[in-house]
Order: sequence, then structure tokens, then C-alpha cells
Amino acid sequence: MGARGAMEAMAGKRERVFSGIQPSGELHIGNYLGAVQNWVQMQDQYECFFGIVDHHAITVPYEPAEMPARVFDMALTLLAAGLDPRKCTLFVQSDVPEHTELAWILNTVTPLGDLERMTQFKEKAGREASVPAGLLNYPVLQAADILLYRATLVPVGEDQVQHIELVREIARRWNARYGEYLPEPQVVVGPARRILGLDGKAKMSKSLGNTIGLLESPEEIWAKLKVAVTDPARVTRRDPGNPDICNVFTLHRYFSSPQDQAWSAHGCRTAAIGCLDCKRRLADNIVAALRPIRERALELRERPEEVRRMLAEGAERCRAIARETVAEVKRRMGLTGSFLPVAKPAAAIRT
Ligand code: TRP
Repeated sequence: MGARGAMEAMAGKRERVFSGIQPSGELHIGNYLGAVQNWVQMQDQYECFFGIVDHHAITVPYEPAEMPARVFDMALTLLAAGLDPRKCTLFVQSDVPEHTELAWILNTVTPLGDLERMTQFKEKAGREASVPAGLLNYPVLQAADILLYRATLVPVGEDQVQHIELVREIARRWNARYGEYLPEPQVVVGPARRILGLDGKAKMSKSLGNTIGLLESPEEIWAKLKVAVTDPARVTRRDPGNPDICNVFTLHRYFSSPQDQAWSAHGCRTAAIGCLDCKRRLADNIVAALRPIRERALELRERPEEVRRMLAEGAERCRAIARETVAEVKRRMGLTGSFLPVAKPAAAIRT
């Protein structure tokens, strides 16, 4: 906890948390272990805001007709995974227009060179034939997301650390120019730093097709796990392997009991078990861990209006804070709307 956090704790005020996730539709176990599990834990302790960031999602080519379902499914999965609207605020970014207003303002204090250096920008830009400015300015919108709520803690996966460093720089520059108002947020990285996909090579990611979805059926999970990459040294059933370099074993660490982990590690090293045995046990454990989430999701899917209502209420709570922050930011920047006619009090009009 930073000095500010300590002060707020003494004042009985909870520190504020912000994080965002792109509306990719269904969550996968990489998102879950890397970030969302952490969010679920934080909602008891902090004042949490979680945004489904659709304005970020439109920085790469997409199908407009599919976006509403992507947003809805993400909201549904997050609720099923344990986010509770009585404890946290869940909302859709484009329902709160202040995000884009503040993003424009922050663009004016963001160094272009910093944006060009971002790893994620270079990777994504390399894949596109034509690079939209939105892809470059993506981290500025991310800064607006966080600073709009003056959040001090940002739980994210490791791949977002560089972006949050830039958010701190943007806050520093704005404060230096217009006075200390926007706190520099801190990154909170969860215990599961980087979850590899079932190919054992790249980060687990929907676009690479190497994921296990949080709502997949036991059959689907088994079909995917069955062909997941293991230690290449195990060519045949009798070849011993090394669990420390096997991605399937890494997943055992997150989903299996200490006994099952020991069984798998020992069996692998001595070739007492085959990779399929090891995967079967893992599949059973993943299915058991995800069962309550899957059941809640199936239930919620029957009540779509309830999900929509929760998002609408979330956006309302956000806007109350967002309006205040933007008003203060603009006031400090001399953008006060002072040339608008001032409404006369009713009494004055009557005379
Ligand atoms: N860029 C983040 C990601 O792809 C999502 C995100 C948008 C975010 N705004 C944020 C994360 C603000 C943390 C805080 O994962």
C-alpha cells in the first residue's frame, strides 16, 4: 500500500481499483487466472470499477453486428466468474462518454515517442496493412479509464505493465502542468503472471485459438486438452519427461490439489504415467473448478434483461464520478464553458 493508500485506510476510505477487459466474448482460463480471479478477490477489500472496454476493441478490424453479443457475453461471464454488482461497479466503457473526452485531453500531454515505443502497438501495427491512429493512442484511452476514477490500483496481467507505466507518466505530466490532481496508479500483478496457450508457445489468446473457454463443456475441454503440447522429450509412453518445462503441468499447478500435482510430477519424471493420463486428471480438475461458473452463466443467460440492468446501473454510478473528474480537469485547464449564458434564478425572472 502506498502512502496515499495508508492515509485513505486511516480515514476509513477504501482505495480505488480500476481495471478493464476487452469484449472478446467469452473469457478463457488465461484471462481468469491472470486477472479476473484477482478482481473477484479485490471487490471485498477495495472500491472497484471494472470496465468492458469496447472503445479499445474497435482499434482493430471487427464486425459491428457481432459487438453487442461480445459485450453481453463478457458481462455474463464476468458475473458468473464472481463479480458481484453489490460489491463492485461493472460497466461498458462506451456508456460513459467521459472516457473519450478525458482521452482527448490526455493526448495533449502524452509524448508521441512513448506511444511509438509500446510493445503491444508495435506487434499489432505489424499485423495491419494500414495502421489507424487509434491503435497508437490506445494507451491514452487506457490512461483516461483509470484517471477518470482517480484509481490508485490497477490489477492486470503482465503484458499490461508497460501501459500502466505510461499512464503514470501521463498523470505526472498533466499534474506538472495543471496542478496535482490525478494520482499515479500502481500495478497489481496477480500470482499467475503469464498463462501459455495449449500450444505451449504463445500467450493464451482468443485470436490464436489456443484457449480453454471458461464456459466450455467437459467434452470440449477434453477435446482441446487431449491434443495440448507437452514436453517433446516424451516421444513414447516409456520416455520420462520434465514437468518443469511442460505447459500441461503448469496448468495442474493452478487447478489440481497438491496430491494430484505430486502424482503428475512424479509420474512424468519416472514415466509411470503417460501424458494422456496426466491430461485426463487435469481435465477432470478443470471441469470441477469451472462447473459453478458454468452453471451460473447458464442460469444468467436465461435472464438477459437482468445483465443489462446491472450494466446500466454500473454506468450510472460511473457517470456521477466521471462528470466530477472531467469538470475539475477542465476547470484547471481553463476550459470552463464560461461563455454559456448563466440561468437566471426563477425569482429574478418573475419581477
Ligand atoms: N488494455 C487492456 C488489455 O488489453 C484492457 C484495458 C483497457 C485496461 N483499459 C484499462 C486494463 C485500464 C487496466 C486498466 O488487457
